[in-house]
Amino acid sequence: MSPMHLYSLWYLSTYLCACEQVYHCMMDSSKFDSSSYFGRIHGILMYKDFVEFWDDVEAFEARPDDLVIATYPKSGTTWLSEIVDMIYKEGDVEKCKEDAIFNRVPYLECRKEDVMNGVKQLKQMASPRIMKTHLSADLLPGSFWEKNCKMIYLCRNAKDVVVSFYYFFLMVAGHPHPGSFQEFVEKFMDGEVPYGSWYKHAKSWWEKRKKPHVLFLFYEDMQEDIKREVIKLMQFLGRKPSEELVDKIVQHTSFHEMKNNPSTNYTMLPDEIMNQKISPFMRKGIVGDWKNHFTVALNEKFDTHYEQEMKGSTLKLQTEI
Ligand SMILES: *[C@@H]1O[C@H](CO)[C@@H](O)[C@H](O)[C@H]1NC(C)=O
Repeated sequence: MSPMHLYSLWYLSTYLCACEQVYHCMMDSSKFDSSSYFGRIHGILMYKDFVEFWDDVEAFEARPDDLVIATYPKSGTTWLSEIVDMIYKEGDVEKCKEDAIFNRVPYLECRKEDVMNGVKQLKQMASPRIMKTHLSADLLPGSFWEKNCKMIYLCRNAKDVVVSFYYFFLMVAGHPHPGSFQEFVEKFMDGEVPYGSWYKHAKSWWEKRKKPHVLFLFYEDMQEDIKREVIKLMQFLGRKPSEELVDKIVQHTSFHEMKNNPSTNYTMLPDEIMNQKISPFMRKGIVGDWKNHFTVALNEKFDTHYEQEMKGSTLKLQTEI
């Protein structure tokens, strides 16, 4: 079976689990029990199957030429992955279109029994490998730090992240219903969503930013001046940013191109698994959509909490550009 089929199967089984849950909840009309979807790793909420096979992730053996793309979920991971793969493939669009992004850039900690297995996928992959992870710097397997692997962290402002995460809960099987937007924002503020507290996550990577093998990027900077950020990336990866190559990468990885590219828009997954009719995977790709979702009161509450969480940190994000 091709990895793409395996991936679909993984989603399908997750979906079936979700159906069972919906049925169960309808029967006893009780609240969703998030413990049937999520477990914990070092206290952090995580998809149950990832937790079950966490030992394999923790014991992962990095190679010195591995490149890690790290993000909190819904922060531009696919966008950055496609840019980096384009850099590695020296702008060869056809080569990039040969396989889905989740096979070119495997998802390290992703696991569903033996059907989907990021660790296994990576073990079988030829070097140099590019991989994605949503792990905080503290949870990233030690081997990556011991080998000084290059790592890129992409940070996006929390308000736009929570909006995107809400739609993700609605459209991807294997998530409980997020409730109202306000309810979901409160869960997010409490760190009671997969991968835990955004605040702790962003700060864990911010503390690593001065290491020469770590590059810390902002989603908002990429929206503001993508050319500048692509050049920054190429320099970090030791490539010569020729004008022609940079332009080609910028063009191929625009929101419009990626939304209409079957190898990046997740269109190969059936609706029952990722329902793009509820909300497309490539939804808006903008800065400031939070303004269309937050009420004035919720925004004030969020800001107050944000200041407490980020007190003393020099990490500053733009929420509009
Ligand atoms: C993904 O790309 C394909 C091919 O261009 C297109 O037909 C499809 O509508 C896109 N899917 C979404 C959800 O945008």
